[in-house]
Parts: sequence; C-alpha cells; structure tokens
Amino acid sequence: MEKSPQENQDPFRSTQNIITNNVHTTGVSCSAKWMGGINAALGNMTEDDWRWHMYDTVKGSDWLGDQDAIQYMCREAPKAVIELENYGLPFSRTDDGKIYQRAFGGQSLNFGKGGQAYRCACAADRTGHALLHTLYGQAMKHNTQFFVEYFALDLIMDNTGTCQGVIALNMEDGTLHRFRAASTILATGGYGRAYFSATSAHTCTGDGNAMVARAGLPLQDLEFVQFHPTGIYGAGCLITEGSRGEGGILRNSEGERFMERYAPTAKDLASRDVVSRSMTMEIREGRGVGPLKDHIYLHLNHLPPEVLKERLPGISETAAIFAGVDVTKEPIPVLPTVHYNMGGIPTNYHGEVVTMKGNDPDAVVPGLMAAGEAACASVHGANRLGANSLLDIVVFGRACANRVAEIHKPGEKQKPLDKDAGEGTVAWLDKLRNSNGSLPTSKIRLNMQRVMQNNAAVFRTQDTLEEGCQLIDEAWESFREVQIRDRSLIWNSDLIETIELENLLINACITMHSAEARKESRGAHAREDFAKRDDENWMKHTLGYWEKEKVRLAYRPVHMNTLDSEIETFPPKARVY
Ligand code: FUM
Repeated sequence: MEKSPQENQDPFRSTQNIITNNVHTTGVSCSAKWMGGINAALGNMTEDDWRWHMYDTVKGSDWLGDQDAIQYMCREAPKAVIELENYGLPFSRTDDGKIYQRAFGGQSLNFGKGGQAYRCACAADRTGHALLHTLYGQAMKHNTQFFVEYFALDLIMDNTGTCQGVIALNMEDGTLHRFRAASTILATGGYGRAYFSATSAHTCTGDGNAMVARAGLPLQDLEFVQFHPTGIYGAGCLITEGSRGEGGILRNSEGERFMERYAPTAKDLASRDVVSRSMTMEIREGRGVGPLKDHIYLHLNHLPPEVLKERLPGISETAAIFAGVDVTKEPIPVLPTVHYNMGGIPTNYHGEVVTMKGNDPDAVVPGLMAAGEAACASVHGANRLGANSLLDIVVFGRACANRVAEIHKPGEKQKPLDKDAGEGTVAWLDKLRNSNGSLPTSKIRLNMQRVMQNNAAVFRTQDTLEEGCQLIDEAWESFREVQIRDRSLIWNSDLIETIELENLLINACITMHSAEARKESRGAHAREDFAKRDDENWMKHTLGYWEKEKVRLAYRPVHMNTLDSEIETFPPKARVY
C-alpha cells in the first residue's frame, strides 16, 4: 500500500523549529517513571489485534474516552513501537528474538472474552528511561535545538485567539525571551505534585496546564486523578505494575490474596482504579499490614530469582533502597499513590488544542497543540490503563509533528508579535518576585498538598469535596500572602518554586471544583454517595476555566464515533474485571 504523506514524514525533521516548553522539567523527569512498558498489539506472545486493545482502552476509560482518538492511538501503536525499535530502543526479547511483551492491568484478548493479553512491550522495568534516551539520541542526530534552562511562563496569544509562541525566563542569566512559533506544542506533563504523596517527579507542577488556563482556555476532566496501587509506603516511589504482570501478588494482613474477591477474573491485574479502591477497602476494614495496619504487601518473593533479575532489576533496587526490602525474600509495603492526571489540555486526535466556541465544542485553537500527560486527547477518559501513557506521548507527539508538517511550509512568514506581547507576564513576574507577604512558598504548598490528599482522595463524598473546595480556595487566597526572599533573577529557585506553586494551585482548584460537581462514580472518580456511573447525566467531559481567579465549569460531549468503518463504536456497558 502506498504511504500517506504523513507516513513519509520524518517526525523529527518537522519538529526542529518547535519550542519545547520547560525542557528542563519534562525532558529529564517524568517519562522515566513509566517503567513497565508501552502497549501495542504486536502479537508477539499470542495472537493480538489493535481492536482488542481499543476495546480494553474504552472499557478502562469507563466510557469517558473519545473513541475516535482511542482508535487512532491503538491502531498506530504497533507502527510506533516498531519505529522506536528501529531508532534503537533496547527492548527485552523473547527466546526467538522478538520484542518481549508482558501482561499488564486491564488488557484482554478478543474483546474481553479471551483472557489476559500480553501486550506491553518493555525494556526490563526501565522502559520510559530507555525510550527517553533513544529519542534524545534521535533529537541530537537531527540537530534539535534545546533551550535547556529556560522556564516557559505564559503563552503569547494574539487578539484573534491564535497562539503565537511563549514567553520564557532563562534561569541561568535572568533574561526574558519571546519565542515566536507557528505552532507551539506543550508537553509539560502532569501536576502530581499538587498532592502530598505522588510518584511524579518534583517538576510535575502542571505548568503548561496553568499557562493554558491563564490564557482563558479550558482544562478538561481534571477530577480524574489516578492512584497507582503500588507506591512504596512512606516514600511514594513507584513499583511498576509490571511486577504484577510478571506474577506479583497483593496480600492483606491475613495473608489473603484479596483481589480474588474484588476482580475474580483479572485479580491483581484488574485496572488500577479497581485495585486501588480494593486496597483502600481492605485497609479501612482493618486488614491492612504493618503496626498501623495502614498499607498492603506486594509479594514477589515467590517468583524465580532469575525473573526478578532479568525483568525487574530496577524495582528490586528501588525496594532495597526505599523500603529496605530484599524482594527475593520479603514483601514490599505498598499504598495507592497519586500517579497520573487523566485530565489536561483538551485536544483532538491530531494534537490540536480545542475549546468551546459558540455551539462548537471542538473548535481548534490555532497555533496551539499538546501531547502526553499535559494533554487530554481524550484517550484515557476516567481511568488510564497502565502502559498506555508512553503510547499516548509517542503516538500523539508524532501526530502533532505530522500535523505541523501538513499545515505549515518551511520558511513561511509568521505574523509579527504585537509590540506589547508578553507585557502582562512581565508585570506578573515582577510582582511575584517582589512578593513580601508573611507565608513562605513551602508552607502554602504543604497546605495545598494536604488538602488535595485528604479531600480529593481515592474515595470522595459531597462533604469531603465541599470542604475541599472551601479549603483549596482558601489556599489560593493565601497565595496573595506569599513571601519571596530572593529578589534576583539568576538561578532564583525561590521564584521558580513560587511560579510552580501558583501553577499547581490553579490545577488543584479546578480539580477540586470539577470533582465536587460530578455527582456519579466513573473510573478514578469514586463517590461513596453516588456509587454508580450515570451515563444519562454525566457521560460528558468537564471543562474547567480559570476566570478572575475563580473556577467556572462547562461541559462538552464525549466523542462516541470512530474514525472509519474498520471498527464500530463500543456502546457503554457495566465495567467488570
Ligand atoms: O507501573 C508502571 O510501570 C507504570 C506504567 C504506566 O503508568 O503506564
């Protein structure tokens, strides 16, 4: 078959002139935490089909995912993984030399009827790390220019609502820069650090999301926050789901494999929201482990030592360092820990940012794109399946590049910036730098993190969420009293942390208010007072706007359509594992 023009494009060639926002935060941080792998129906271990992967993803999303985008991602997945292999990603191998694929949560064969799928391609338990280095090598090869110590502050929008680039601070020398770009792609990651305990890097402060919110554009579905079942108790470091994919088992204080009760078929490999809720219920009912009975054990000690050495070397080391555990002999103490933001900047499946314009819920914001955890395509809906995150960033990062190549010509003229473009941002930065209140940044941050941890937790009620709205609004108000001691512009980490805090607070406020408003349980949003999914009233995306320092909510429809006749829409049904 002849290749389409997009397929012939080398995505790196077309991204060379694109400014990458906050390179220092996204480039070296959170992608490395996606240890377990990347899903693709390669069929290396059993027969497989991208349609089965699509079914699992729609079901995993609890029918809040956009089915056109999910089809696009799952269909592109095998190509994307082979492309990574060709770039040199050192995937683990089967005995006959194929890419090794492990079991992961929520993955099935034959539309849920064929048992567990082995779909997660991996490089031991360091897949994200390997992927990052492979792509960095490619970027070097294609002479990509990195602005390493630049911190993007705000989008530059013109008066027609077109994005013209970003304004950024060079942290090294304190200079401010306006980057003009025909297309700006945000790949700034999530905002896990709004919570007290998270697997996310400390740089996951939702900077891109906040830039978009400050520009008057909406953020989508922020109420859906994923808790990964196996963060190390106390430390929060991730123990990959791949450990359960290789045969790891969760047990309570009675030594019981309790997941058999909650998810009789998938057991420990049910989807993450289900496993996290089950663990929380075990702890609540007094069957937690440890002196305070407040966590759960993950057992790997029944697995052959050679499997641990070959397939799970990274987490064996992490468990030894952060939990003092020898995984060949003892269980790892674990607890559900904030891991991923399903919500983010709304995009279509090309990666173009969309907003509501009049009656159009899918109006493209010219010049602005987003991919990865910062974006909400929405392929994960209310709950992301493990190993669909690396896939999301690879497929939609590439989709953005292809779209740029399609709509722009090399050397085409760009509209000049307005003379005062970015002036508001400079004034804001200066005000922040000279803040002279009574509250240190760290104090406001800790308060915000505790509110999010307590009031937007695994289980939610109207009372906890109403209180959460009040407390998070107060946390925002308290930011007026922030105190910065360092007035300089060079390596001013006090200032940078304060900007990050403001960004986190915007994300946190929208998350809490969106969660309070959604009166149903769906995916990761588990309401004890509205225990059922309510498709009639709530099968819709939340849009959270940040207007005059307050949250305003609106809604847009879920895309139930597929891209073409290769697959039909999956209609909603009960979600059991
Ligand atoms: O458990 C893990 O390895 C994480 C992967 C993911 O969140 O996709």
